[in-house]
Amino acid sequence: MNERDVQIREVGLRDGLQMVRTILTSAQKLEWCARMVDAGVTDIEVTSFVPPKVVPQFADAVEVATGALAIDGLHAAALVPNLKGAQRAFDVGLNKVHYVLSASNEHNLKNVRRSTAESVEDFERIAAARDELNREVMLGAGVATAFGCTIAGKVDERTVLGLVETLIDAGAQEITIADTVGYANPAQVRALMRQVMALAGPVPIACHFHDTRGLGLANVMAALDAGVRAFDGSLGGLGGCPFAPNATGNINTEDTVFMLEAQGLRTGIDINRLLAIRETIAAWLPGEPLTGAIARAGLPATFVDREAVVA
Ligand code: COA
Ligand code: ZN
Repeated sequence: MNERDVQIREVGLRDGLQMVRTILTSAQKLEWCARMVDAGVTDIEVTSFVPPKVVPQFADAVEVATGALAIDGLHAAALVPNLKGAQRAFDVGLNKVHYVLSASNEHNLKNVRRSTAESVEDFERIAAARDELNREVMLGAGVATAFGCTIAGKVDERTVLGLVETLIDAGAQEITIADTVGYANPAQVRALMRQVMALAGPVPIACHFHDTRGLGLANVMAALDAGVRAFDGSLGGLGGCPFAPNATGNINTEDTVFMLEAQGLRTGIDINRLLAIRETIAAWLPGEPLTGAIARAGLPATFVDREAVVA
């Protein structure tokens, strides 16, 4: 495998699909995963362990996680919103679990029906359950609405930094800072992420941006300035928010890879392969809007694809 400067993690199967009306089959989801690995995307959030009645798309979480574990070279992770979800993910045998809570108490109440403080306590129980396992499971924690909230408005930096410290103390082995609603701007990202990086020390930090207001890639640049080297993206920018009409989803994986590679930052990802997978997914999800400048305009003729996989 190529040396990587930046790690791109695919969240389209989770963050993207949770907003999509069409329910994909487990086989389709697993084909998506396998082809992403072939394209060089080895870190994928493959599903979410939430109650099927909350998100019917993830009723097959066990099947997808089990299938993903059988894909060579894939580091499969799943999102969990509570202890029960974490236990389900541990039981399936996943080696990576992503917990999420919101810096905005109001958003947390709406998303997981408990206060942020209660979610912190839930995380402590999850970390204890992880410690009881007789295998290594990497437990990551995400801080959602870290740059602002559609319900509560401004989110104080100190709230985010306090949560980062608390989650690391409680056993988080990786922290993701998320702009859940697409409120962040580059100056804000640079300022917050510098502080997060200083606070986290050796604990890996990732950023999760939404391109709701067109600043997604600018925010990636700002986070890079602050030293962040891992980003979530979703193929075709899949996703959105049912409470925000015309909102887009996560930053687009293929455009993000292009931006990084064009500047000489290696991702290990073959963009043309991503574009081929995107076409398949577009056909599976009729009527679902996808975003992406590279899919529309093509790669520049001057672009040297150093990651192209030689078949
Ligand atoms: N997976 C499957 N079932 C679960 C579950 C999970 N992670 N968590 C709870 N349940 C079940 C409980 O066993 C219980 O079942 P029962 O009615 O048969 O006894 C039922 O769901 C209610 O449990 P409770 O603990 O009261 O949950 P809740 O109704 O307060 O909902 C969450 C809490 C966290 C499960 C729910 O709000 C949720 O899934 N939120 C996530 C939403 C999301 O996906 N957001 C986007 C990503 S951040
Ligand atoms: Zn998101």
